[in-house]
Amino acid sequence: MDKFVVRGGNPLLGTIKVSGAKNSALPCMAAAILTEDEVILENIPQVQDIETERKLLTSMGAEVELGYGRAQHRTHIKCAILSDPVAKYEIVKTMRASSLVLGPLIARTGIARVAMPGGCAIGGRPIDLHINGLEAMGATITQDHGYLEARADRLKGAHIVFDKITVTGTEDLLMAATLAEGESIFENCAREPEVTDLAALLIAMGAKIEGAGTGTIRIQGVAKLHGARHRINPDRIEAGTFLIAGAITGGDLNVDCCEPKHLGALISKLEQCGVKIDVGADHVRVRSGGELKAADITTEEYPGFPTDMQAQYMALATQAEGTSTVIENIFENRFMHVQELIRMGANITISGRTATVRGKTPLQSAAVMCSDLRASASLVLAALVADGETILDRVYHLDRGYEHFEEKLRGVGAQIRRMGDVFGRK
Ligand code: EPZ
Repeated sequence: MDKFVVRGGNPLLGTIKVSGAKNSALPCMAAAILTEDEVILENIPQVQDIETERKLLTSMGAEVELGYGRAQHRTHIKCAILSDPVAKYEIVKTMRASSLVLGPLIARTGIARVAMPGGCAIGGRPIDLHINGLEAMGATITQDHGYLEARADRLKGAHIVFDKITVTGTEDLLMAATLAEGESIFENCAREPEVTDLAALLIAMGAKIEGAGTGTIRIQGVAKLHGARHRINPDRIEAGTFLIAGAITGGDLNVDCCEPKHLGALISKLEQCGVKIDVGADHVRVRSGGELKAADITTEEYPGFPTDMQAQYMALATQAEGTSTVIENIFENRFMHVQELIRMGANITISGRTATVRGKTPLQSAAVMCSDLRASASLVLAALVADGETILDRVYHLDRGYEHFEEKLRGVGAQIRRMGDVFGRK
């Protein structure tokens, strides 16, 4: 398994480019199931989860081209024939977002067999809200040997109020409703930019959708959807990760090709910490404003402080003067990075969903273990300011959602390199 070797101490200086959003690209790729025409998506990030989605769609009979040449980062997807509408466990177990094919498959083919995703490092992550919503739209869903078997002649529009705000739940049902008979009204929807990005693609494909990005979405079902070309939004979590990298190293970093309006909660928090921020049309510049000051965060659904930035913020909080409380409201086990940060010298205590970070503590290099995508990013950020060389193991977690992570950081002065597994294991 590949490792990263990071020598701390360098302030990050220069411009770093943000790639397309993994969490937009995944539902948008699944949306291609809804039509027999070709769907072209641009600004696709070259990350492992996208490759997994390509394998998943191909296994069902789709034709998927995926190119990352200089001009590209583009995928062409054609689901003319879905010969095998099954999301197999071997693929689903590596990526929970595979459940995003459930709604489109039922809407397009009337049948779907999707492996139950199982839990994951950060929490149980059930998909009961996806299932309840599809049943409310007329699907019959049974469980069979670890798979969900779903059938529907034609889904019917429904009025659904989500018990909890769910990003992929909103996306799954939104896709299903585009081909349902009649009107659907969904309330208590996720308002994340990734939902809005998906809706923009669906509308380009001929769907009739109003209110995406707000808590209430109205969809008028149509008989068919056609192909479209769509450019994926910049990745707001990658952008946020780089903003914190600039802040924690006391550098002067321009985060380019991003969407600043998706970063509001993080930017205002960084300013509260005393970081200097200049916001442009498609870039954000972060500079040291002297000693970092402690500030509390509570993760909330968008537009609140994103749970996907919690681990990265905690690394920053270890370098701030004072006590910061970090409350994780979305997932029940999203503190996997804490023990590793403590091993590097951080002073953090946990009580339930609240972590208390006492700073500023100098961080020491250590051998640490990555556990999930954002926890891994947190450990890289800590390593950038630790003394000596930190070895991070299992960086495959990072490869799932950050494109060319070490190259981008090296390009602005970080001392980071990848060390392959001596036996070539991934
Ligand atoms: C999406 O996951 C993202 N993944 C996650 O990003 C992100 O952390 C999360 O939204 C929250 O913003 C993708 O978009 C592919 P949820 P999702 O459904 O949709 C509970 C990353 O780092 N829930 O919004 O799976 C759930 O347990 C990943 O890129 C149910 O109870 O998250 C959680 O407590 C990690 N039943 C809460 O809702 C359901 O049916 C929010 O989960 C669905 C969710």
